[in-house]
Amino acid sequence: MSPLLHRCIKQFINLSRQSSQIKPSAEVFERIPPYFQLSNGFNKENEKSASDLIQSMVVYEDFISDTEEKSILDEIEPYLKNLRYEFDHWDDAIHGYRETERLKWSSENTKILDRVRNLAFPPNVAQLKYVHILDLDKKGFIKPHIDAIRFCGDTIAGLSLLSNSIMRLVHDKNKDLSADIFLKRRSLYVMKDTARFDYTHEILSNEFSKFKDQLIIKDRRVSIICRNEPKPENKL
Ligand code: OGA
Ligand code: MN
Repeated sequence: MSPLLHRCIKQFINLSRQSSQIKPSAEVFERIPPYFQLSNGFNKENEKSASDLIQSMVVYEDFISDTEEKSILDEIEPYLKNLRYEFDHWDDAIHGYRETERLKWSSENTKILDRVRNLAFPPNVAQLKYVHILDLDKKGFIKPHIDAIRFCGDTIAGLSLLSNSIMRLVHDKNKDLSADIFLKRRSLYVMKDTARFDYTHEILSNEFSKFKDQLIIKDRRVSIICRNEPKPENKL
């Protein structure tokens, strides 16, 4: 079984990434998706970075219905209930959380997860079989980190249950390049390539949880995260 992933995510990396094939477009700043807010560090000179970031972090709002959200929660709540939220380890990447991993799902929930997997991963990509379940308390938050390349591949797909929240992406080498992403309750995000490798990601605490100047109250939030296998040469 793979270790719980968050223990290993503090490793920061320096990889030269293959740049995206899509040509930068003059209109990139006019076509920013509504769930995206780019920092002022993005300008005409680094338009290509903005365009690559937008393409590598995509949010699908209303990816699951109320009923599907409930169905997933009904299956995992009995396990989560037995775990205590961890608040005390300030060196942890995550504050105010409990987590587990799950291999076997009900047939109804398997269908939902298959929809996630089919959207996020091409058929030839080897996926981690365990689904990571991260339950953040209302007071919980995730500090900036990059998921370890030893433990997971180039794509991270996450369903957000129970609450809206804000994910912040900050370029690991140039803090002026950052973006806030509105993760709506019941949305799916698919983070890959430059967003996954070159930017740290974090979930803001309620204190800082704003989007386009609007306060976004983060309640208890449960994320359901599918990942793919790391490249063989990155494994131990
Ligand atoms: C993680 C992580 C994000 C989320 O567990 O490494 O970044 O959506 N989670 O919960
Ligand atoms: Mn992460």
